Amino acid sequence: MDGVTVINHPLVQHKLTIMRKAETSTAGFRRLLREISTLLCYEVTRDLELTMETIQTPMQEMQAPVLEGKKLVFASILRAGNGLLEGMLELVPSARVSHVGVYRDHETLEAVEYFFKAPEGLSERLIIVVDPMLATGNSAIAAIDKLKERGATRLRFLCLLAAPEGIRNFQEAHPDVPVYTASIDSHLNEQGYIVPGLGDAGDRMYGTK
Ligand code: URA
Repeated sequence: MDGVTVINHPLVQHKLTIMRKAETSTAGFRRLLREISTLLCYEVTRDLELTMETIQTPMQEMQAPVLEGKKLVFASILRAGNGLLEGMLELVPSARVSHVGVYRDHETLEAVEYFFKAPEGLSERLIIVVDPMLATGNSAIAAIDKLKERGATRLRFLCLLAAPEGIRNFQEAHPDVPVYTASIDSHLNEQGYIVPGLGDAGDRMYGTK
């Protein structure tokens, strides 16, 4: 699928399978989510640009590569996106973090922003927007709308699971934003859950159901 990278690293796929199992505990799910998010972060940052810097080793001076540009931003779509942050920040401790909360108004069907916080200089940073599930795509679309309204231009979207319907909607709204996922599942059911999926990601990571 154009614009979608499926991260099929064996460790990612193995951990995802355990996360999908209904019998996996909240503690187990959370631990796996932290581990898998580190691996996903490694893949989504694989092609970041480097620049050369002069450093002094104990032996001699050399030109050595460092990440180019301003610090990355990880933008979490509340609340389940927060589950991906911990593992990603372990890998990129200097990343800045944005939180975006949106809900759908049942009457107008508009996406309403209830929380937004982001670092300065969004227009100059690469922003990796995270949410474990790309289901209908509505919250991802709305969150990215909000980031673009504040100047974001370079974005990627990272999730664990995606539904084909969600990918279609998302790409229609934001064709410039590449999607990274560990799996494209079969479909969405009538309640908007990804099938076979893993259930409600927020409930599974926080034990709220
Ligand atoms: N959100 C979830 O947490 N799970 C789904 O299957 C769909 C949306």
